[in-house]
Amino acid sequence: MLKCKTMKLSIRPMQPADIKQVKEIDRQAFPTLETSLSFKKELRNEIARYIVAYEPANESRTPSVQTTNESVFSRTIHKIRMLALGPPPTKQSIVGFAGVWFMAGEAHLITIAVREAHRGLSVGEYLLAAVIEIAIEAKAGFVTLEVRSSNQAAQSLYEKYGFAKTGKRKGYYSDTREDAIIMTTDGINTEDFKNRFEQIKKNCLSK
Ligand SMILES: CC(C)(COP(=O)(O)OP(=O)(O)OC[C@H]1O[C@@H](n2cnc3c(N)ncnc32)[C@H](O)[C@@H]1OP(=O)(O)O)[C@@H](O)C(=O)NCCC(=O)NCCS
Repeated sequence: MLKCKTMKLSIRPMQPADIKQVKEIDRQAFPTLETSLSFKKELRNEIARYIVAYEPANESRTPSVQTTNESVFSRTIHKIRMLALGPPPTKQSIVGFAGVWFMAGEAHLITIAVREAHRGLSVGEYLLAAVIEIAIEAKAGFVTLEVRSSNQAAQSLYEKYGFAKTGKRKGYYSDTREDAIIMTTDGINTEDFKNRFEQIKKNCLSK
């Protein structure tokens, strides 16, 4: 279990049942975008990995499905499913999500967003750390992303985790013609990066 500044948080792969809540967060986070990501399509995209952050406290509120008419067999199957898979994802309150594409030896952060009411509580930080861990496991060379030049909050989050500004795409965003800043990590599978990453997580995520 991860410890957040003021809340408990868990991270797991996104599932189709999460899409309704993910879309709400996406609309809050990127209100000026005319078209948003098709999460249904993205979950079938072989080069993509999507994760969600949720509050595990809600698990205890999952209603019991046992009834007197149920056979011992079906109750046992239900218990095994609950132990193996946890409660149905729709019962969990999703507070943020992130998506990454793996291509040409790099991990490209496609999106990251936190529910408005949960910002400033380290949720973004946990999601980004989880993306970097996934990228290290996948043996990607580095993590890269585009961010709006005006998005200071996101840039500061990325800098905290070792991303540096490595380029610019002029007029990249179709809604406002704003420039994108390209931010990239050093080689994430080097001992140097892994040591620095572990140190950042220790300093920042255990407070
Ligand atoms: C960017 C975003 C994901 C950050 O998530 P968050 O959970 O609020 O951020 P955290 O609480 O984890 O903060 C981690 C770090 O991010 C930076 N940060 C977060 N909010 C910030 C703000 N309002 N101003 C400046 N820096 C900020 C800080 O460096 C912070 O570290 P600190 O607490 O030591 O100062 C969130 O603001 C969001 O969803 N924004 C809308 C969507 C978006 O812009 N996504 C990025 C697209 S490239």
